[in-house]
Amino acid sequence: MSQDRRPAAEIDAKALSALLGPVVTTGVPLYRAIADSLRRVIADGSITAGSRLPPERALSTALDVSRVTVTSAYRELREQGWADAVHGAGTFVSSPSEETSWGSMLRSESPGVLDLVNAAPEASPFLAEAFEGALATVGAALVGHGYAPSGTRALRTAIASRYTARGLPTTPDQIVVTSGAGDAAHLVFQTFARPGHRVLIEHPTYPGAIEGLESAGAIAIPVAIDAADPDAFVDDADRSARQNAPTLAYLMPDFSNPSGARLSVEGRRRLSATMARHGILTVVDEVAADLVLDDSGAYEPFGAPTPGTATISIGSLSKSVWGGLRVGWVRSDKELIARLARTYARRQLSVSILEQATAVHLLERFDAVLVARRQWLRGQRDILVSHVRAELPEWNFHVPEGGLSLWCSLPAGMSSHDVVRRAATGNLLLAGGTRFGTGYAFDDKLRLPFTRPASELAAAVRVLAETSSGAAGDGHPVEPAELVV
Ligand SMILES: Cc1ncc(COP(=O)(O)O)c(C=O)c1O
Repeated sequence: MSQDRRPAAEIDAKALSALLGPVVTTGVPLYRAIADSLRRVIADGSITAGSRLPPERALSTALDVSRVTVTSAYRELREQGWADAVHGAGTFVSSPSEETSWGSMLRSESPGVLDLVNAAPEASPFLAEAFEGALATVGAALVGHGYAPSGTRALRTAIASRYTARGLPTTPDQIVVTSGAGDAAHLVFQTFARPGHRVLIEHPTYPGAIEGLESAGAIAIPVAIDAADPDAFVDDADRSARQNAPTLAYLMPDFSNPSGARLSVEGRRRLSATMARHGILTVVDEVAADLVLDDSGAYEPFGAPTPGTATISIGSLSKSVWGGLRVGWVRSDKELIARLARTYARRQLSVSILEQATAVHLLERFDAVLVARRQWLRGQRDILVSHVRAELPEWNFHVPEGGLSLWCSLPAGMSSHDVVRRAATGNLLLAGGTRFGTGYAFDDKLRLPFTRPASELAAAVRVLAETSSGAAGDGHPVEPAELVV
């Protein structure tokens, strides 16, 4: 609870009562129904963070309920992180998504807990062999000092060759090796985003990117993306660029996380030309670009037909191989890469030599690694799709042609925050839809990754079917605090 908060706005009890409309209490206590309605008007932006809620007595009169009911509703809001009490000043609206960093949502695996917070697959079957291969070859490096700023020559060469094979001619000096793609994104924001700079993002987008650009002091400019009509993003981005003059853009043209959207070849060409016309430096996150799950194959990388335009691609082996292998990279033209390399060297002397050697082994047989990963993910996607269709028929989603998760639209009136809270009583952990947006957007959405074993996916959907309709889970409840590790 913060003691220094000052109200940005005070909401009148009558006005709030009108906003809430008739309170529907189907199967839930009255105080909870009021808390649910309050959360909904916060989530849809009708009330903004920092606003002071009416005094309990005034709201109870306006709603014609007892004061105790409003006290309980406010307490529930506070417990869920949607409000703070400030001693002597009242109850203020806050945003639960501001409280927990994305990284801290990663929890260690506990028995009996179904963890669908992260879209992070188990290790590729090729990884163990690659570690052994790396151990066998790393001996030659042991006589040196063991630091490789920007990455070992062998790994930068292997990464560059893969870009060249994909249609984006690249030399090793256009690569900086990082500790994963998240690290790469932070490096780019640290180098090119200044306080007050505007950064155009897809909406929804990867929460780590929102955090990264916010920590650089930059301002996110959200542009809606929809997997059902991904190329509509191009004209919307053009319009937003004209209005908001962003200097940077952070985009995922292939299997955007979490929407699953993939731009067509024509769409990405138009988008690249649009960004170039507005002088926007475009950061392209390709962590899921290789995870094509239908027959469409690989599309040309963003910016391939116009290699002179300012584009920075970032990638990693986290999704194609394993998140525990901390190898990622940045690719750009030599001038931008030189700036990135200077920034990176100031904070990180080197990525582990053994992991880089492992990555070289993996990239040598990367086509086989990807065939196995895609086949496994395709099966996982189909299993999750069939469970959701059978047990949650009112949930809608576009079956993604690639990536690692379903982005579900919840039935009308259902709040993702509420679904997450109820699922936790059945030992199922999820990230609420609002994690993937700015403000309170996407409380009507839920991301369901299909990266856990099939039996867990089935159990997770069962828990959702039982708890999201209001029935309590019968497992031991998980305290909300345990979500944060
Ligand atoms: C779009 C996107 N970018 C970056 C990352 C971070 O990846 P890494 O583990 O390589 O840091 C993730 C992880 O989920 C992601 O989904």
